[in-house]
Amino acid sequence: MKLRLTKIAVSLAALIPLARLAWRALHGGLGANPIEFITHSTGDWTLIFILTTLSITPLRRITRQYWLIGVRRMVGLFAFFYGCLHFTTYIWLDKFFDIHEMVKDIAKRPFITVGFSAFVLMIPLALTSTAWSIRRLGGKNWQRLHRLIYLTGILGVAHYIWLVKADLRKPLEYGIVLSMLLLYRVGVWVSEKRKPAIPTPARSLV
Ligand code: HEM
Repeated sequence: MKLRLTKIAVSLAALIPLARLAWRALHGGLGANPIEFITHSTGDWTLIFILTTLSITPLRRITRQYWLIGVRRMVGLFAFFYGCLHFTTYIWLDKFFDIHEMVKDIAKRPFITVGFSAFVLMIPLALTSTAWSIRRLGGKNWQRLHRLIYLTGILGVAHYIWLVKADLRKPLEYGIVLSMLLLYRVGVWVSEKRKPAIPTPARSLV
């Protein structure tokens, strides 16, 4: 019951950026270039949700708040949701489904290919986010597949660093947060490897 209420609260909180965007759109608050505003806002939130998803495991271990695992999948799905909005803004509002324009743009601005790769990698994660998929794939395989989120994060940050022309501060801040979250995983992996294998007790033959 408590987890259900937490999930509802997290979902409502996760929809605030979209609600703010809709509010601004209805009240003429999207600035001189509304498409650019929407692209930037949805891109930012995609990255924020990816980093939030990646921070749940360390946060859960450090604070021993084990219930946090119950919202991780949902936060990941919101990353995908904002990624879809970001992608849709580009192909619909920005390029109006004009394939020629898109090909020309991609050739001119290769950072779009990097963003696109990050987005494509999120698709199998979103498709296998159900309890049924975990059962079908088996816990270990599911975990292996879901490590793709590390690559998504790296490509997402690379996409941002690449597209910025002058002030690199914001993408680098995201990069630092991502590096810390990935280093945490490396640290855990190394310490697990170093642990001595627990010997199985010798069976008595008597
Ligand atoms: C996981 C996937 C992605 C992430 C995390 C991401 C993230 C971002 C971020 C953070 C920004 C800059 C926001 C700002 O300036 O505040 C951005 C801008 C942009 N993204 Fe993405 N993006 C992704 C996928 C894509 C895809 C699939 C496309 C198009 C096919 C795309 C096209 C763009 C464009 C055109 C801009 C604006 C560039 C400019 O200002 O000149 N992105 N994205």
